[in-house]
Amino acid sequence: MTAASLVIAIDGPAASGKGTLARRLADYYHLPHLDTGLTYRAVAHMLLTKGWPLGDAPHAVEAARLVDLGSLDRDVLSVHAVGEAASKIAVIPEVRRILVDKQRAFAAQVSGAVLDGRDIGTVVCPDATVKLYVTASAEVRARRRLAEIEARDGTGDFATILADIARRDERDMGRADSPLRPAADAHLLDTSEMDIETAFIAARTIIDGIVAAA
Ligand code: DC
Repeated sequence: MTAASLVIAIDGPAASGKGTLARRLADYYHLPHLDTGLTYRAVAHMLLTKGWPLGDAPHAVEAARLVDLGSLDRDVLSVHAVGEAASKIAVIPEVRRILVDKQRAFAAQVSGAVLDGRDIGTVVCPDATVKLYVTASAEVRARRRLAEIEARDGTGDFATILADIARRDERDMGRADSPLRPAADAHLLDTSEMDIETAFIAARTIIDGIVAAA
């Protein structure tokens, strides 16, 4: 990080709204943005496409080496099955090491950057200017996910989505390597009662306060 650079680390569980918030903040502060979940999804997608088992560490490592941050296709990678598979391959330490190196290189841009994921404040960018931990209750996250799915496909079942979210939380928070947790110096943003505009303003207030005090 240079004196003028601004690195914003955003972590949080699935469907917490951290992705939307990260994009809004990147736009507002004119910073490049990396959704690090897409890098894990790209590895999972490669394994699924080739028919390789998700527990096949050597192939997952090979796929991680091939991940190119410039060609992550959100449309292809955002399908539900790829997210589930990503959460499974994300427990492989060597895969994480390779992807974290790529993510750190992205964060090292002169301007700074906005990165969102699960371990940005704790592992990828421990020296980030600002760390936000965005969360919301599992019920609120499931409701948001259902609304998203209904807007896209027209069908969805709340109980199934809630169970998926609980399982994903358990896997992401319970793994041995880089589990999802707030960094000690992260600012907590519980968006259960907030719409995106309110969360955006709350995040800007935190960031502007830290930048002004620096
Ligand atoms: O944010 P997402 O749903 O696109 O992430 C998919 C999975 O990737 C998530 O369940 C766990 C993994 N992941 C991770 O382990 N570390 C990150 N920094 C980002 C995502």
